[in-house]
Amino acid sequence: MDSVAKLHWGWPQMNHLLALLCLVAVVYKFTVLLAQRRLALRNVEAFPGPPVHWLFGNLKEFKQDGKDLQRVVKWGQHYPYAFPIWFGPLVCYLNIHHPDYVKTVFTSTEPKDNFAYSFFEPWIGEGLLLSKGQKWFRHRRLLTPGFHYDVLKPYINLMSDSTNTMLDKWERYANSNESFELFERVSLMTLDNILKCAFSDNSNCQTESGINAYIKAVYDLNDLINLRLRTFPYHNDLIFYLSPHGFRFRKACRVAHRHTEDVIRKRREELKEENKLDRIQTKRNLDFLDILLLARDENQQGLLDEDIRAEVDTFMFEGHDTTASGLSFILYSLACNPDHQKLCREEIIHALDGEDTFAWEHLSKIPYTTMCIKESLRLYPPVPGISRITTKPMTFFDGRSLPKGCLIGTSVFGIHRNAAVWENPDEFEPLRFLPENVSRRSPHAFVPFSAGPRNCIGQNFAMNELKVATALILKRYQLIEDPTQEPKLIARTVLRSINGIHIKIRPVDPQG
Ligand code: HEM
Repeated sequence: MDSVAKLHWGWPQMNHLLALLCLVAVVYKFTVLLAQRRLALRNVEAFPGPPVHWLFGNLKEFKQDGKDLQRVVKWGQHYPYAFPIWFGPLVCYLNIHHPDYVKTVFTSTEPKDNFAYSFFEPWIGEGLLLSKGQKWFRHRRLLTPGFHYDVLKPYINLMSDSTNTMLDKWERYANSNESFELFERVSLMTLDNILKCAFSDNSNCQTESGINAYIKAVYDLNDLINLRLRTFPYHNDLIFYLSPHGFRFRKACRVAHRHTEDVIRKRREELKEENKLDRIQTKRNLDFLDILLLARDENQQGLLDEDIRAEVDTFMFEGHDTTASGLSFILYSLACNPDHQKLCREEIIHALDGEDTFAWEHLSKIPYTTMCIKESLRLYPPVPGISRITTKPMTFFDGRSLPKGCLIGTSVFGIHRNAAVWENPDEFEPLRFLPENVSRRSPHAFVPFSAGPRNCIGQNFAMNELKVATALILKRYQLIEDPTQEPKLIARTVLRSINGIHIKIRPVDPQG
């Protein structure tokens, strides 16, 4: 009887037990976090870096004032090759900003990191950008034919059309002295391009009225992912999920997914109606979506539905936001450098020889313009940073090394502005890209499209698009700087400007 009474605890005892359990859990969690922090500190001890706050790390230095990227470049002058940047008390990236270090990372097969990239997963799934191992290898092999020269060739006409649609809309700015924001308008044009080229979808997204819901969702998603990266508590999935920002993130994801699902659904219906083989044989340009839906490996295995959606989401995003950033900054650079702009225009008018559309043959006839495009990609890399995680120890050329499990952030912006690599790094000097100057530099000094096995699959597509658009724009309009609205650079997934990218335009005088 006595022992039974002992087993029947009352509320006070239960409360004490619960409190004790909570205390044990908190102490345990705290010990784990402390051990995690000690390990992270030990991992990067060979790499001195800027002062770090024990809780915020270097986060407070990122003021989102348009100078954060330059701040990182400045740190690089004090800490050559590489230095740690702390995102809160636990997450530390080794930021690398020199070609000799970058070479080690890009030639390895180390996967994308499991921190920043994981924030993208609810949106773009395990598409080519995020997947790893066998899945990445299989998909990369299946999708590479989608970027073959024969596939890219007919896209040039489509790119010309989308550019001309955009330029018709610019007419009103050419006849006023008003400056206007580029990124938003160029994004619609590059979305139009990727929809037409990769998905054969004539969406009219440039001519429909109002703000395009997909573009707005992409903008919000980029912003919210960046906010999550900078807000330590949001690193936890549950806290972010329950927050108002998490709610907005899910809403934007739904909008983006609806857009891509719509594109896939339309094509599936079309393919059902047609005889597949006939379609492929008669349609000269097999597009990316055909390749995704009809892809089979050596075991006749196609892609799963969820994989197809992830790839469409990935290509839709990667295929338009990067080129929008690239082209907007190219136009801004040329507006700020009228002498180079003039030389490009002369070259373009000569190459086009009176034609209004750009053709495949013209691509190789504008070398000076191509150098200006590359110089702008150097100063304003559309993808300003890329990260990896080590799955085994990695040793760099100077003997310093990182153990397994470390995050590495390759600062593309930092490499491109590294004064140890580039003379007058902040100056716009396209002749750096003359072949004789290129051959004097490390191939890893200029890496807007990354390098090695995980380089950009769409780089030829992107370069073609940038050339076509730049040529047709310069042929029609003179680009003029608006000194009252200098862009304030900000690193989202792609390089953007907090206050937009503004220029003025004027019609080109046909008499020269
Ligand atoms: C100026 C335009 C572009 C730039 C600067 C750019 C840059 C990059 C960079 C730096 C990476 C490596 C990212 C990483 O390792 O995390 C990448 C990967 C990728 N890009 Fe691009 N990109 C551009 C345009 C495009 C276009 C037009 C497409 C598709 C049509 C595309 C599709 C992809 C894909 C699918 C990957 C992942 C490749 C893989 O991991 O196998 N990109 N891009």
